[in-house]
Amino acid sequence: MAKSYDFVDHKYDVVVVGAGGAGLRATLGMAEQGLRTACITKVFPTRSHTVAAQGGIAASLQNMTPDSWEWHMYDTVKGSDWLGDSDAMEYLAREAPKAVYELEHYGVPFSRTEDGKIYQRPFGGHMQNFGEGPPVQRTCAAADRTGHAILHTLYGQSLRHNAEFYIEYFALDLIMSDDGVCQGVIAWNLDDGTIHRFSAKMVVLATGGYGRAYFSATSAHTCTGDGGGMIARAGLPLQDMEFVQFHPTGIYGSGCLITEGARGEGGYLVNSEGERFMERYAPSAKDLASRDVVSRCMTMEIREGRGVGRNKDHIFLHLDHLDPALLAERLPGISESARIFAGVDVTKDPIPVLPTVHYNMGGIPTNYWGEVLDASGDHPNRIQPGLMAVGEAGCASVHGANRLGSNSLIDLVVFGRAAAIKAGEVVDPKEAVPTPNEAACEKIMARFDKLRHASGSTPTADLRDRMQHAMQEDAAVFRTQETLAQGCQRLDDIWSGMKDLKVSDRSMIWNSDLVETLELENLMANAITTVYSAEARKESRGAHAREDYKDGAFSGRNDEDWRKHTLAWVDEDGKVRLDYRGVITEPLTPYQQGGIDPAKIAPKARVY
Ligand code: FUM
Repeated sequence: MAKSYDFVDHKYDVVVVGAGGAGLRATLGMAEQGLRTACITKVFPTRSHTVAAQGGIAASLQNMTPDSWEWHMYDTVKGSDWLGDSDAMEYLAREAPKAVYELEHYGVPFSRTEDGKIYQRPFGGHMQNFGEGPPVQRTCAAADRTGHAILHTLYGQSLRHNAEFYIEYFALDLIMSDDGVCQGVIAWNLDDGTIHRFSAKMVVLATGGYGRAYFSATSAHTCTGDGGGMIARAGLPLQDMEFVQFHPTGIYGSGCLITEGARGEGGYLVNSEGERFMERYAPSAKDLASRDVVSRCMTMEIREGRGVGRNKDHIFLHLDHLDPALLAERLPGISESARIFAGVDVTKDPIPVLPTVHYNMGGIPTNYWGEVLDASGDHPNRIQPGLMAVGEAGCASVHGANRLGSNSLIDLVVFGRAAAIKAGEVVDPKEAVPTPNEAACEKIMARFDKLRHASGSTPTADLRDRMQHAMQEDAAVFRTQETLAQGCQRLDDIWSGMKDLKVSDRSMIWNSDLVETLELENLMANAITTVYSAEARKESRGAHAREDYKDGAFSGRNDEDWRKHTLAWVDEDGKVRLDYRGVITEPLTPYQQGGIDPAKIAPKARVY
């Protein structure tokens, strides 16, 4: 019989789950307005995965080259391969400068130009003059440790405004009322084993991506899609899960990130013939074409026998022609990573690199205020009460089928801030906090207890390994009907395998065996919806490159049938149900009132 667990009860106006860039920006914004705000996080805030973001944050400040929000919006639309929502993309591009200046005023130590302005570098897919070029310097940087600088600043500011932090607490599930309102969340304090019930008028999921569904990823081991898992168990859909970004330059072997800023500062890729092959594929943007394009080109070079190394299975990134003083000033972090993880002195030798899983464009569907959408059938934009999602966990959708580099950090702060603005409007501090649904709480703890006492014969690590290999092999840079159908079958089998899990440690304190099992359940909800959504999408678009749907080198996009978002539900038995919702093609501001010219963002061939 399931053990009963005592709750430590808390009441807040807002509970934010996750303390990365989006979670902290939302927490700070809520607390600044006087809302009673708690932030629950499974790792210490400054160890959240945003700390690993290197190259920078995109905003059209015009400090170093001409730029405009319209150019930024155009690049984002094109980068998304016309799957992003235009209202959200306009909001992102317009609000970006304001959000970056706010960060500067909060204290982020940006690198500086000679005249003291924020330093900006070129990044892939960001161009001047509606894509006509040349590359624009739009990515604001703090050397190559921009995420680190932002995270530390936002955490300090949140404390200053009396946000309350629950650190090393693992969120188990959302408390949903019988009529579908989110009333809070239950979390496990890993340090002393107590169970905490947070009742709140608004829960904000800022739990990050699920890169660890794959075998090789730049993501931290903590990136296990916990928000997506909670959403799936609440019976809500995930959106556009088939779009998984591979970053062109993960270090061969370890997967550790080498920032795109390295190419922004003048680095370039070569094949075994010493050829700068990107000139052939993307004559205008070359090494600064968008990530999905560069990753595919690298994969094609390797497949055609022009990879480097003993097994001809990777590519070289050259920085050794750059001034060592520039490398020390602008790229100190990756110089160190290359030394530690590849044994390379970047001033002398090239870095061995390979496309590596980096980012999930899909996630929890939201509008551009971060409000979660219960988005099916005849109510595609219906708001799910009491629930928001921001950052990589959410899907606003600004990145559509492919995200541009440095549009992630700006997404975190623009939409973290937007969620706080909206919460300031809809959360009434004078209203009573909801009383939690006891039956829902019991169900959450029954699941927890079942996993805690799981006594099958399969260790969690073994099943996770099977999942990671299936994803790596069957939902890769290039996909076919055959690999995706095989991926669905393999993920079905792995889902069934969860019934036979074995958890050896039954304790409540620092039980990493149980944490990893809870994380595996979350990863599986994300992974299975990814392969099913990918199998169903019969076209190539952005990061979803199907070899059986192509027209020429890259494009097999079919706007007539497939310019729509995928919605995916998964039930307790692992059955996936799919539906679709239309892409929002109307920008926020009509052209006559100062908006972008609609003709500029109409779909066309995507060439760099
Ligand atoms: O390459 C990078 O520095 C990564 C940035 C990003 O994913 O936005």
